[in-house]
Amino acid sequence: MALWGGRFSKVPGEAMFSLSRSVHFDWRLSLYDLRSSLAHLNALEANSIIDRSLASRIRSAIGELQREVASGKFAPITSDEDVHSALERGLIEKVGPEGGAIRAGRSRNDQVATDFRLYLIDHMIEIALETLKLSSAITDLASQYVSDVAPGFTHLQHAQPVSFGHELAKHAQSLSRDISRISDWLKRSKLSPLGAGALAGSSLPLSVEASATELGFTGVIANSIDAVSDRDFVAEALFIISLIGVHLSRIGEEWSLYASIEFGWVELDDAYATGSSIMPQKKNPDAAELARGKSGRFIGSLTALLTVIKGLPFAYNRDLQEDKELTFDAVENLLLLLPAITGMVASSKFNREKMRASAPLGFSLATEIADFLVLKGVAFPGAHEAAGKAVKRCEELAIELVQLSDSDLKAISPLLTGEVRNRLNLDSALKVRDSINGTAPESVKKQIANLRVRISADARAYASERKRFSGMMDQ
Ligand code: ARG
Repeated sequence: MALWGGRFSKVPGEAMFSLSRSVHFDWRLSLYDLRSSLAHLNALEANSIIDRSLASRIRSAIGELQREVASGKFAPITSDEDVHSALERGLIEKVGPEGGAIRAGRSRNDQVATDFRLYLIDHMIEIALETLKLSSAITDLASQYVSDVAPGFTHLQHAQPVSFGHELAKHAQSLSRDISRISDWLKRSKLSPLGAGALAGSSLPLSVEASATELGFTGVIANSIDAVSDRDFVAEALFIISLIGVHLSRIGEEWSLYASIEFGWVELDDAYATGSSIMPQKKNPDAAELARGKSGRFIGSLTALLTVIKGLPFAYNRDLQEDKELTFDAVENLLLLLPAITGMVASSKFNREKMRASAPLGFSLATEIADFLVLKGVAFPGAHEAAGKAVKRCEELAIELVQLSDSDLKAISPLLTGEVRNRLNLDSALKVRDSINGTAPESVKKQIANLRVRISADARAYASERKRFSGMMDQ
């Protein structure tokens, strides 16, 4: 059913209609559209624009549609242009032509902006909850490897030994920044565009504040032109999704490396690996690889949206319809990815012996020699130079740093005594890095305890956010 046509003498051509039609993807907005229609109806009734008896007929038709849409009994048909026109058809089928009275004081421009905000608020809450599950799984995993040493890398070369728990916990840190970004996003995005009309607001006496409150928004967007044109809330959400995707891609890259024969650090659970159709021996880290791959797709959506709104005139332009498919795609793919990565992480078993055995390779304890000399009063450039010479001498003799003789050490620097050997072991190299952010097991334990406090506070906050949102939707 078209929501316009009075000034036209022809219906749209087939190609025009196919281009314009969005119901096959914007149907995802149907329940949010019905809920915002209910809020609009309440405002129309409260201000006596629709009388009580018609309002109650429309209200029960909206209720019926909510049930029928949820069960799939009511669905769009080929002649429906978009979610709004499909649902208005449903309303009129149930109430009769008077049902169209609900259109007073509203345009699809403020309607779609409202629906889309509700959709994204709902789904960003879901994304926060799923991200918290991953963060919690990775923190639990980190807690199992606090005292296990692994090589730490820079330039993908052995750099200094680290606690593997520290290595894993860093991912929980980036995910926790993602959660706080979603919280900031919610603060900015929970504002209502409803009542902005086509662009100029409504001449009808409607309380836009009341419908905003009813829909769980914390206020009304101050400028009606901004309200129908703004898609910052979409761009920001896509940035957050992209950055979560980038964080997952870095987890994915690490897991793929760790699962290779060359590393051999991780044994993936069979439930989170896949086989090859030709090579029977293969066990591939596909979840990790899809994490890497899908991050490209999220960034593509963000880039596409920014390109659509760049230079776009105000207020509503049909270009804005292009904001939806890419957003649905990003949201749905992230919600597919997060539980799979959580499962992969939670079921991973690391080979402690192999990580420990590889940790000192590449003279990763050389910094200990430099630090030893600094503590003896040598300025760092000299200490660095001496440690470098120690590495060179070891290469000549094909031995490890700890095997350098007293005379070798003395030849490098008179202050380099055999005492340095106490520092030239993995556990001591970890233990001495005991600042609050350091890799000493005692520091990592504190870091993990702090992460856990933050994760459970965030999980509680988002569980109640979700409860509030579903309570509003169910009203
Ligand atoms: N399907 C449209 C969209 O997604 C709804 C708004 C249409 N408004 C209009 N003035 N044609 O943007």
